[in-house]
Amino acid sequence: MKNFVLKGNICYSVNKSEIKVFPDSYLVCIEGKTVGIFEELPQQYKELSLVDYGDKLIIPGMIDLHIHAPQYAFRGMGMDLELMEWLQQQAFVEEAKYSDLDYARDAYSIFAKQMQKSATTRACIFATRHRKATTLLMDLMEDTGLITYVGKVNMDREAPQNLCEKDADSSATETMEWLEENRSRYTRTMPILTPRFLPSCTNELLEKLQGVREEYHLPVQSHLSENPEEITFVKSLFPDAGFYGDGYDKYGFFGKEAKTIMAHCVWSEEEEVVRMKQNGVFVAHCPASNMNLSSGIAPIKRYLDEGIKVGLGSDVAAGQSESIFRAMTDAIQVSKLYWRHVDSSCKPLTFEEAFYMATKGGGEFFGNVGSFEEGYELDAIVLDDTCIPYPQELSVRQRLERAVYLSLDLMGICAKYVAGEEVKCCRTHVLT
Ligand code: GUN
Ligand code: FE
Repeated sequence: MKNFVLKGNICYSVNKSEIKVFPDSYLVCIEGKTVGIFEELPQQYKELSLVDYGDKLIIPGMIDLHIHAPQYAFRGMGMDLELMEWLQQQAFVEEAKYSDLDYARDAYSIFAKQMQKSATTRACIFATRHRKATTLLMDLMEDTGLITYVGKVNMDREAPQNLCEKDADSSATETMEWLEENRSRYTRTMPILTPRFLPSCTNELLEKLQGVREEYHLPVQSHLSENPEEITFVKSLFPDAGFYGDGYDKYGFFGKEAKTIMAHCVWSEEEEVVRMKQNGVFVAHCPASNMNLSSGIAPIKRYLDEGIKVGLGSDVAAGQSESIFRAMTDAIQVSKLYWRHVDSSCKPLTFEEAFYMATKGGGEFFGNVGSFEEGYELDAIVLDDTCIPYPQELSVRQRLERAVYLSLDLMGICAKYVAGEEVKCCRTHVLT
């Protein structure tokens, strides 16, 4: 069903300071892309099937630029640690279990189902270092109808023996085998090169992965400047790098040669920020994770003002929830603390900016995604806010903000479309 019309209260972001609102209007989708929004349905579209969502809200699907599928199992637990201890005591312990395909199937089935139910239509996902379990995750994600990038993680040091890859060579070889076995296997699920972070990767591994990236033309995802102890450690491991991101850039993993997402960027120094901008690196802002692991507050307003590309990430399970509505609220709230307590020249984020990051900002990583402007791939979610009643008159814009702050997505969304295909997970409706 790639040609259809949706009717309802339509909202989308055109840029970081403007949300366009079309009450009681028609959103026309042809070949999976938006052709326009109309108050009256033009004659030429009257033959298309129409879904009338009445007074409900229709907004672009949420984009999660950073989430760890294997960590979903322990979300909401074991948070009272900083990054390096949390990795050793929580994340690595859980991830080691994914050598067992039965466990992986149980855990990843839950993850995939919950992602299908969520407001997220696109995501960039870390798996573990295990090739077979990563392919299994890709099979499950393909069936959800979401469009995702999934990465087999590379890590050949600084992890327990039952998780660490044997050496650089076997890590690179496994990655190539994983890429080969998934060639042409999926329509919605794409591989992404995933060196975990610099402390997990030897120079030799990074060098080999550079070759893999060039051969397979892969985008890249990793972590950057999340925690002070981590950054000090990176300085000792990579004394020749000018700054953390420079360590990635030396191997072509920093935006210029390959489309790249770097999660966090809480403590990025000036030169790093300049390089991110020059190279077009996408920042995945993960405010819940940064609070839970006491990492700090990323100066996102500054990044946006400087024209750096920024989207939101749930970073489950350092972030406790896959809700990008929650991430929007968290992003705004931590930016207010940053402004009040850290830097009075860095103004708080607005709702418009948060909505932009959650949709069009992150969506750019996937192409023309995250907006209902003409030519954008149609990813949409439909929200019924009657479950949060109100006595007064509210505008559609007010209802949207309220829906986000009150995490309406967690109460269930009515319908979800990804690139013009309906995802059959939500409440059903009758086509007319
Ligand atoms: N840095 C390296 N690995 C991880 C991870 O799994 N989560 C977070 N938040 N940071 C990381
Ligand atoms: Fe992460």
